[in-house]
Amino acid sequence: MVFIAGTPGVGKTTIGKHLARTLKAKFLDLPEYVKQEKLYTRYDRARRAYVVDERRLKKRLSKFLELIEGDIVIATHLLVPLNKSGVRVIVLRLNPLALLSRLKRRNYTQNKLFENVEAEFLGVTCHEAVELYGMRRVKQIDTTGLDVGRTVRKCVLIIKNRSKGDDIDWMRSLRGEELDKLLKIFASLR
Ligand SMILES: Nc1ncnc2c1ncn2[C@@H]1O[C@H](COP(=O)(O)OP(=O)(O)O)[C@@H](O)[C@H]1O
Ligand SMILES: [Mg+2]
Repeated sequence: MVFIAGTPGVGKTTIGKHLARTLKAKFLDLPEYVKQEKLYTRYDRARRAYVVDERRLKKRLSKFLELIEGDIVIATHLLVPLNKSGVRVIVLRLNPLALLSRLKRRNYTQNKLFENVEAEFLGVTCHEAVELYGMRRVKQIDTTGLDVGRTVRKCVLIIKNRSKGDDIDWMRSLRGEELDKLLKIFASLR
């Protein structure tokens, strides 16, 4: 069972689908599943998002995973604590400025836009994944400048234990002007 995780917009759904096809595994898009199964408590109009009922989601997903045969790839922003031994997490990362221009094409409020860019900059999803599943099970891929095929191949190498993935720290690796631009964006929020 592989979680394809990361900030909204990094490409989880796109990569997850292709990876599942390559692995001949099933594919589940968790946000879609949450909507279909109505696993939310309410719709937050200000944030334009459903508030996920995490307790019910965990229960329902655990049951669902017991029933299916074979491997499954799950694309998700939200990490679910599952008691399954074979869980792997691949966190997709993307240069926060590239993420910003990708997210601008979505119907996001400015707050939500910047919130996500900030989360990517800090690596929030990766921290959460490591907290839940431990360093050994969590790997990252810097997808900046990679096409879908290359990213999927990197996922496969990680799953086959032939790659340790990428080390990502945007604070260190961004160019000076990129960092300046980002910090200005964050400051404008306060
Ligand atoms: N290398 C890439 N990997 C994944 N998505 C990409 C890539 N390059 C461009 N994209 C585009 O970025 C968007 C990613 O959206 P999506 O897969 O829904 O992300 P998420 O599920 O993480 O929110 C899609 O429109 C996709 O076509
Ligand atoms: Mg998605």
